[in-house]
Amino acid sequence: MKDLNQQNITIPEGRVEARDKVTGKGKYAAEYAVDKMCYAVLVGSTVPSGKIKNIDLSKAKQVKSVLGFVSHLEKPAVPGFATEALMKESRFGLPVFHTDTIYFKGQPVVLVMAETLEDATYAASLVEVQYEKTKFNVDFDSTYAQIPLHEAGKERGNLESWQDAPHVVEAEYEIKTEVHHPMEMHATIAAWTGTDHLKLYDKTQGVNNVQQVIAPLFNLKKEQVEVMSEFVGGGFGSGLRVWPHVLATVMAAKQVGRPVKLMLTRPQMFIGTGYRPASWQKIKLGADDQGKFMGIHHQARNETSLYERFSDQITRITRLIYDFEHLKTEDALVPLNINAATWMRGPGDCTGDFAVECAIDELSYKLNMDPVAIRAKNIAVTHHPDSKLPWSSNYLVDCMNLGAQRIGWKKRNPQPNSMQDGDWHIGYGMSVGMWNAGRNKTSAAIKMKKDGSLIIQTAMTDIGTGTGTGMKNIAHEITGIPKNKITIELGHSNLPPAPSQGGSTGMSSVSGAVVEAVRLLKEKLLAYAAKQDQRFKGVQEDVLVLSETGLSLKNDTTATIPLDTLWKQNNLDELVVEATSGPGEERKKYAFCSSAAHFCQVRVNVKTGKVMVTKMVCVADGGKIVNEKAAANQMSGAAVGGIGMALMEERLLDTRIGGAIADDLAGYHFPVNADAPIIDVSFIGKADPNINPTGAKGLGEVGIIGTAAAIANAIYNATGKRLRSLPITPDKIL
Ligand code: MOS
Repeated sequence: MKDLNQQNITIPEGRVEARDKVTGKGKYAAEYAVDKMCYAVLVGSTVPSGKIKNIDLSKAKQVKSVLGFVSHLEKPAVPGFATEALMKESRFGLPVFHTDTIYFKGQPVVLVMAETLEDATYAASLVEVQYEKTKFNVDFDSTYAQIPLHEAGKERGNLESWQDAPHVVEAEYEIKTEVHHPMEMHATIAAWTGTDHLKLYDKTQGVNNVQQVIAPLFNLKKEQVEVMSEFVGGGFGSGLRVWPHVLATVMAAKQVGRPVKLMLTRPQMFIGTGYRPASWQKIKLGADDQGKFMGIHHQARNETSLYERFSDQITRITRLIYDFEHLKTEDALVPLNINAATWMRGPGDCTGDFAVECAIDELSYKLNMDPVAIRAKNIAVTHHPDSKLPWSSNYLVDCMNLGAQRIGWKKRNPQPNSMQDGDWHIGYGMSVGMWNAGRNKTSAAIKMKKDGSLIIQTAMTDIGTGTGTGMKNIAHEITGIPKNKITIELGHSNLPPAPSQGGSTGMSSVSGAVVEAVRLLKEKLLAYAAKQDQRFKGVQEDVLVLSETGLSLKNDTTATIPLDTLWKQNNLDELVVEATSGPGEERKKYAFCSSAAHFCQVRVNVKTGKVMVTKMVCVADGGKIVNEKAAANQMSGAAVGGIGMALMEERLLDTRIGGAIADDLAGYHFPVNADAPIIDVSFIGKADPNINPTGAKGLGEVGIIGTAAAIANAIYNATGKRLRSLPITPDKIL
């Protein structure tokens, strides 16, 4: 936060949910106590491929408080899975408990319900399942080359025209599987009232999404499925899907006729809630003598499951940042005996960007050009290279220039292996990232109480990003009502509908709804005020000044109406407005992006292979920054995630047994405080004029897109070793 002070930005108050989160008052999904609730524990397949031959529950049934089981042999009806066609239509993914086929090791095969978690856990350990084993494959590295590539997006120009470019980099890149691992593990409590109302306490990034997925499976209207996710302990994309355990819990509650709680264990989080798929990429990049890019050929493959094909769209980023006249992008999916992959922070772009930004760094060395200068020469600053629409705003070059200044880029020695401190070799690297800045239709309601306080509501969840805090800041800014009189309510499907929080669209989407709701509130207040005082008649909403005590007019300070009078005269208790706001015509006229530049300094120990990231600078353009502190937190968190991606994170599968090993947080390494420097975050901070009424473009993804490349490039500068396979563990350095 020191650096924020240097920029003369006042440090704002903490998050609206902070106190509740750290004092235990805020409840996460698994923490609710529901009357008559029992516990469920999943039993996973012990083989990675085959058929279930027999399930023996006899021993499990002897555990004293066992209440029942769910499996493909005994289960309540799920109408939405009644036929193969319906199952496909549901797009649910794994047909949990509706098949005897085993697609991956750990696949849920039985769910055990008991009065206590201990009994359910013990009984689960006594379930005996026999399988007919079949051949399996979990080995991405030895399989991908067999899968043919397909065009991913339209070719620009043509590949042949630049094949004799004077400067060419051609290289392959690999990234291992990464798992989201939010601190809060996924959990669901399902409670049926009769057959027509279901209440779910669920860890999710989108309560309306859960509603929309679960309701049709039970022939219910979405209003009949109530979903709560008021506090969320991180998501990173793992909460954007409705996973098998959620449906399993709903089925269990039906089966035993009681509310059921299921919380995944940490090992189950390795195989139950998605991951960033392992990938292979190849880049061929050509440039002329002046460093102008002539063309790029980007090929990529990612692993996926056998029951669901997930494309991470790795080559998308190549079509976004630079003005390649000639571009060819191809990709392919590599199906394996593993669970389904999903979006993980900066999905796709994060992976693709690593390859492209490393290749550009390599090219800059071939040309003896500054990595910042070669990028500045080639960034598509005026328009989106595919759609050719003008950018509504794009400050990526400014991000680079400010970042270079903040890290002292000019003072470094670009010569590889030239800066040393004993066994520690020092290096600097940089890269850039970009993200399509989206916006989705979102609703928000405002309740104004007699004391002038506001309650602002939306179904959107806040997964730790500061959505609630941002909403409060916006409402305060445009109403003038003090922040301590504004309350935010989030994460409940009974509140005005909202999209899932993901893809850096949360603030961009909900801020428009808050602005529109405030306008409606003012419109309503003006209508009442005009009945009392003619001067309020025909007045525009933005001329109305609100305070906690009354209404007044900007251009006529003598016109005031105390709130008391307004409520009394009109016999009101509260005022309620609800507004919906979403993207419109502006999307046909402009392209929208958020972007960031990442710079870092590393120290590499050439004897032990240890890499320390000692400085990290992120400069982002996310349009208007609604809450500096929450925004900077997002960027720091993402950068630390990027350090994990670059140096540590890797889901290990044993190719002989076909399953995860080291599947806990001791075996899966990610950065702790000692592994990350204080991240130096700055923002361009200029509102986008078209994206939405606030000009906020969204930030979550760009904090990580580019971090890994910056680190790999710094390691090259430190050691002269070009490492193209993530994570860069000490063995690769030596
Ligand atoms: Mo994210 S992958 O936008 O939750």
